[in-house]
Amino acid sequence: MADLDDLKDGSDFGLGVDVSHQAFHVKGASNLPWGMKDRLSRIFHPTTRKTVMLAFDHGFIMGPTSGLERIDLSILPLIEYADCIMCTRGILQTTVPPHINKPVCLRSDGGTSILTELNDNVLMDIEDAIRLNVSAMAVMLAIGDPAYEAKTVANLFQAVDRASRYHIPVMGVTAVGKEMIRDARYFGLASRICAENGASIVKTYYCEGFEKVAAACPVPVVIAGGKKLPEKEALELCYYAINDGAAGVDMGRNVFQSSSPAAMIQAVHAVVHERLTPVQAYELFIDLSNKEE
Ligand code: R5P
Repeated sequence: MADLDDLKDGSDFGLGVDVSHQAFHVKGASNLPWGMKDRLSRIFHPTTRKTVMLAFDHGFIMGPTSGLERIDLSILPLIEYADCIMCTRGILQTTVPPHINKPVCLRSDGGTSILTELNDNVLMDIEDAIRLNVSAMAVMLAIGDPAYEAKTVANLFQAVDRASRYHIPVMGVTAVGKEMIRDARYFGLASRICAENGASIVKTYYCEGFEKVAAACPVPVVIAGGKKLPEKEALELCYYAINDGAAGVDMGRNVFQSSSPAAMIQAVHAVVHERLTPVQAYELFIDLSNKEE
């Protein structure tokens, strides 16, 4: 039986993780209450401190976009390889079986479609997030958008106020308007604003100088994959992002639009958690793809 001294030394009590109280494995979360830490620990692995979120919330603005026409067929087989899933409550309740028991980062805002202007402007009730037993709520911020910045910052602010009553972390999702310059200055600003307004996780994009974006953000930053890239480039993106301080990925199209989505998510997982190089990860992707055929 371990004693108090073991705790001080960070004994793992046979669990394979450091259970000492000296440091919590999620950036910026050491002072958060137990419920928050529990939920963040479902998302971020206690040993690697990283996460692979599988994002398939695109339909709330794009409808049945390529790869998401039949989520039951395309996405459900991938969920076992993800650390966390990110989707809307509509898809969660209709299509994702509750017994999979994966942490859910729930898309918690909604607004207009791609047919009009992109702006998320309503926030779901906190009670529904609680009923759905989510591990985090995701809310979009349109930093730099003259029409929607204030509304989306208010949304995030409100989400944090409500969610923190129940120890539910909020992820700030940095949306990028067409007129924004996708550089470290912009992503650094947007990410920091999410964290300053109470987000416990930030989702943004990789860019040159990303290490400054990650370093200046007091909470974990995960990167979106963005538009579909050739698999090798997408794996390079993951690798460089992790190298430069990302706490993981929140990836959608580069997984579910891949020629071999199951192979791709496993290769991404290996980059994020096992630090495979892009070359090794691409070899793994090819190997797994061949086995699927
Ligand atoms: C976009 O609004 C969504 O939040 C997506 O979940 C996010 O962009 C990640 O998906 P992808 O890797 O396809 O960019």
